[in-house]
Amino acid sequence: MTGFSFEQLRRFPDLEADNLYAVDATDRLLLDEADLELARSAPGDVVIIGDHFGALTVAAAGRHHLTGIRVFQDPVTGERALAANAERAGTASNYRSHSLDRSLLDNAKLVLVQLPKSLAELRELADLIARYADPAVTVFLGGRVKHMTVGMNDVLGEYFGSVRASLARQKSRLLVATEPQRPTGKPPFPVERRDEGLGLTVCAYGGAFGGTALDAGTARLLSHLDRMRPGAGLAIDLGCGTGILASALAKTRPGVAVIATDRSAAAVASAQATVTANGLADRIVVQRDDAMSQLADASADLILCNPPFHLDTSVHAGAALKLFEAAGRVLRPAGELWTVFNSHLGYRANLQRLVGETRLVERGSRFSVAVSTRS
Ligand SMILES: C[S@@+](CC[C@H](N)C(=O)[O-])C[C@H]1O[C@@H](n2cnc3c(N)ncnc32)[C@H](O)[C@@H]1O
Repeated sequence: MTGFSFEQLRRFPDLEADNLYAVDATDRLLLDEADLELARSAPGDVVIIGDHFGALTVAAAGRHHLTGIRVFQDPVTGERALAANAERAGTASNYRSHSLDRSLLDNAKLVLVQLPKSLAELRELADLIARYADPAVTVFLGGRVKHMTVGMNDVLGEYFGSVRASLARQKSRLLVATEPQRPTGKPPFPVERRDEGLGLTVCAYGGAFGGTALDAGTARLLSHLDRMRPGAGLAIDLGCGTGILASALAKTRPGVAVIATDRSAAAVASAQATVTANGLADRIVVQRDDAMSQLADASADLILCNPPFHLDTSVHAGAALKLFEAAGRVLRPAGELWTVFNSHLGYRANLQRLVGETRLVERGSRFSVAVSTRS
């Protein structure tokens, strides 16, 4: 049966809790403001970017009977939630997931976007849309008012002849961009930076955590590299971002095979570029996955993790705990999880419960570094 109701939507396999929702006011505003354009669209005209859990895609398919919808979602959890929601709504064949590339945007006439968090990510999207979409494309970009900045208008203004803002509704607002100015130079991403301290070249696409910078927590974790489980055969960089931890480990330990894994498409593309730039492609396998779901139980000797503590834009410890729990499953007995976190978060009891005996090897005013040994 083809139909649509917001009530059917779920976030699964992403975290679910009473205060976390599968649809938000921005989804509703985007769908309402683009209603006419969606109703007039032909198969293959519509592209949806950043659909959190599938509300935009499933509604466009269910309400407007649209087919050939092209979708890009950065986290694989978003892709899996959309797939499950579309299956329940009977609209699984109305859309296709794409990478963030030309195939997503070629000749698109209507683009709906949940605004990304960073200006870099927005620039990457704006460049791709302006480069490949139909010259008559209309782009609706929605976000929470508190997360929107004039910098976003400025970035869009570099790629579109017209950018206007809608009135706010329920603390969300839209930007509507038309008249794409086709870029002539090369795309702005990936960018790269040489880190002489680490002896590594770091590459980043727009949506990668922290760009090419070395995160302060990651630096703390790296300072303990030579104390981590001697003789490890298989090591995992869990939530690898640009792949700094994986690359540093592979470089200093020639005997270790490394898997760098992250749920974010931007992260794995960046990590793959970093690995290649440093000549480590034969030592590091990069995988896009949710909390190592495709890795076998008791298979790894060492896991390094600088976990997320921001879920979407709210702070939610569940995102880190999910990774710790996965580490407990994937480590072999006596394997080690090395992790860093803001000292005030006090994750030690959780690590002890989810992985095993946990020792703080560093406790600063800002960061703590812990090693947990799988029992
Ligand atoms: C704080 S960043 C650390 C990035 C990198 N390791 C570094 O140290 O610079 C956390 C990373 O965890 C990833 N992440 C969050 N939840 C995840 C999940 N369920 N499965 C895999 N990766 C996840 C994010 O996409 C992000 O790249």
